[in-house]
Amino acid sequence: MIDQDVLVIGAGLAGMRAALAAAENGSSVAVITKVYPVRSHSNAAQGGINAALTDRGDKWEDHAYDTVKGSDYLGDQDAISVMCEEAGQEVINMEHYGTIFSRDDSGHLGVRAFGGQRQARTFFVADFTGQALLHVLHEQVLKHKVKVYEEWFVLSLVMEDGECCGVTAMDMRTGEIHTFRAKAVILASGGLGRVFEPSTNALICTGDGMAQAYRAGGSLMDMEMVQYHPTTLKSNGALMSEAARGEGGYLLNSEGERFMKKYAPNMMELASRDVVSRAEQTEINEGRGVNGCVFLDCRHLGEKVINERLVTIREAGIDFAGADMVYEPVPIRPGMHYIMGGIQTTVDGVTNVPGLYAAGETACVSVHGGNRLGANSLLDTLVFGKRSGLHAAEYSKKTTAKNIGDSSAKDEKVRIQALLDRTDGNEAFGKIRLEMGQTMNEHLAVYRDQQGMEKAREKIKELQGRYQNVIVQDKGKTFNTNLIFTLELGFMLDCAEAIVASALERKESRGAHTRKDMPKRDDENWLKHVVVTRTEGGPSISYKPVVITQWEPQERKY
Ligand code: FUM
Repeated sequence: MIDQDVLVIGAGLAGMRAALAAAENGSSVAVITKVYPVRSHSNAAQGGINAALTDRGDKWEDHAYDTVKGSDYLGDQDAISVMCEEAGQEVINMEHYGTIFSRDDSGHLGVRAFGGQRQARTFFVADFTGQALLHVLHEQVLKHKVKVYEEWFVLSLVMEDGECCGVTAMDMRTGEIHTFRAKAVILASGGLGRVFEPSTNALICTGDGMAQAYRAGGSLMDMEMVQYHPTTLKSNGALMSEAARGEGGYLLNSEGERFMKKYAPNMMELASRDVVSRAEQTEINEGRGVNGCVFLDCRHLGEKVINERLVTIREAGIDFAGADMVYEPVPIRPGMHYIMGGIQTTVDGVTNVPGLYAAGETACVSVHGGNRLGANSLLDTLVFGKRSGLHAAEYSKKTTAKNIGDSSAKDEKVRIQALLDRTDGNEAFGKIRLEMGQTMNEHLAVYRDQQGMEKAREKIKELQGRYQNVIVQDKGKTFNTNLIFTLELGFMLDCAEAIVASALERKESRGAHTRKDMPKRDDENWLKHVVVTRTEGGPSISYKPVVITQWEPQERKY
């Protein structure tokens, strides 16, 4: 058995920020990650990180208001205030740790405009901000001698008397399964993007943490709120950063018209993401797209700006769509990008399961509510990663390690062996995964309705049944990706179930949850969070009030 004060699951920005904060606080800390840390999906974050710095004439209250409005008033305003107030210091911390942010002509940290915000306050490193931050945090984690278990796959949370006191995990190199005991466990294992197909998310984003918490009695909140990013490549769903529009890029329909003037005359292409994605989808549905897409036009920015600030998306356009943004518009469409929901937590990452914390995309604080502003995600990972790490470190000082023995690892060994020994099935994991992803993308996308969501619920149930017949062809121990992908699929199906149940529950349109059959926002009945927990009989729904401090709900116009 491996013993720690604080155990962090996931080595993206939230996980490594949590680990660093706990280590700086004197705890013994370990991180378990299924990929090498700098291959975590935070690596793919492009456009930047928001912060209102007062020396720029900006105020955190303005950032908070933009975030509240962006969330379609579903975000909890106390939590949003914490995030926006701590943002500036966190960006400066990351600069001091060694991040080489892009600078403006006067040599100060540069900012670019991002959607849904009245002020340019997005700090960035060209169009690979997440990668830059991730490498810097990895250095800090190594410097603080945090033990990192790389390429280990977490199977389950270890529970004792209703408390979380560790995890079971498989060393992917050997196939061996071990118990990790900890006084506090922080789930920071990222999002679930690949429950949808296609998605901007890496193939590793399979909702493991959300499903592990759900299985252990954790509450998931706002799971119906799935963000479709306005600019993903038509060809394969790859992300074309909002930075392109922040730098001045246009969106055009088949008639060459900047159609956003009809939908958001003030903010145009920089309205909030749900608004822009709906506008694009409407153009496509009404016949003003081209083969299911519209266009991102950056030609007027010129090659110098594109090469300095949008270099990786220029390459992505060339490689995956055969379109060089310097010379031609790039075909794009809305694509699944992010889930606003996740494991319900306080601003310190505390969940409803004692000993269990969550941070980053796997958590729901809720600072994003119905729609996240671009570049608030990196901020969320760092602010709430740090706060979770600090709180978990303090909690671990007051907690005695439970006497848990090794029975959890033994149970997991039996479960995994039974899966490997199964001979009476005929299903391949990949087929189920694809059918799940396509179903979710068809019925839980930019526009939804009752009938479509019910079809999705039936399909997910069918796939959960068929999952019991999946055969793992590879019986080996070493890097058995066939086995790992099959286990991930189990987590993904749980997440899909929670999303569909929550979406069917919300009888209105708000933020990213836009119902064709119920197009209006209904504050009287639905200004509340949908919370889902797992029971023997399936998902069970309850509600939590939205915290309103100073910004009363208003009609949203951009
Ligand atoms: O468009 C982007 O660069 C994505 C940023 C984000 O999701 O925060």
